[in-house]
Amino acid sequence: MSSPTSGAIQLHEHGDVVVVQLDRPAKLNALSTALEQALLDVVRSAAVHNSRAVVFTGSQKAFSAGADTSELPEMTPRKIAAYYRGSGSVYEAVAALPQPTVAAVSGYCLGAGFELALACDIRIADVTAQFGLPEVGLGILPSSGGLTRLVRAVGPAVTRDLVLFGERFPAEEAHRLGLVREVVEEGRALPTALERAAQLAKQPATAVAWTKAAIDAAAESSSSASLLIEQLAYAALNRATGTGEITR
Ligand code: COA
Repeated sequence: MSSPTSGAIQLHEHGDVVVVQLDRPAKLNALSTALEQALLDVVRSAAVHNSRAVVFTGSQKAFSAGADTSELPEMTPRKIAAYYRGSGSVYEAVAALPQPTVAAVSGYCLGAGFELALACDIRIADVTAQFGLPEVGLGILPSSGGLTRLVRAVGPAVTRDLVLFGERFPAEEAHRLGLVREVVEEGRALPTALERAAQLAKQPATAVAWTKAAIDAAAESSSSASLLIEQLAYAALNRATGTGEITR
């Protein structure tokens, strides 16, 4: 059940690529627990499961203005623990998708919205995009995987700067930091993301899935463990090629 203020998730299929769109414009796509749960349901749906690439997007004014601030005062430690087992697991569910994921960002991309974009493999932003992590200013911290992903992507020093000041920064700065692959003209984030997703959808699905998993493992393993993972994955993929499993 959705209303203009509670919002919904729209799913559009473009051949092998699905577009998952946050649709809560009245609240700038603020990620309420209800919207997160709807997103989690879509991420687990057959349409996403059967796709070869997924684009996550919002509206032209906002990819997402972050967690729904109206819900924050209701949170207790017990509710927060339950939250991460429930709708709050959506960010890790997105990160764990085996197929390529692309965030198409325009307008505000703040807090949990930025964390959702960071859970994707790549980000395409138009010139209107504004990134930021305002959580510390609200007395909390980014806690939907974004802090962890940022440290791994840009290191602790830049993460400290972005998180402690909590200042908004434009697409060009995100590009300079390596967080955004391409900055495009206003209104071009979604079409460009669709083009990139279609390109990635053509890559062999098994190789993509294992490579994504190996990259995640490399970020948190010793060199020797990571090298072993590379080599074992190569052996398995090479065998999959031989048995004709190269494209799922
Ligand atoms: N949670 C809940 N509602 C939000 C929201 C959020 N994170 N961000 C925006 N909204 C709502 C506003 O309350 C407003 O609702 P209303 O029209 O019923 O009053 C509507 O979305 C439009 O927002 P508004 O503030 O009027 O738009 P703006 O263009 O003037 O400002 C922002 C846009 C993004 C700068 C501002 O809304 C903002 O700072 N939002 C909070 C961002 C934030 O702190 N996110 C992290 C949370 S941990």
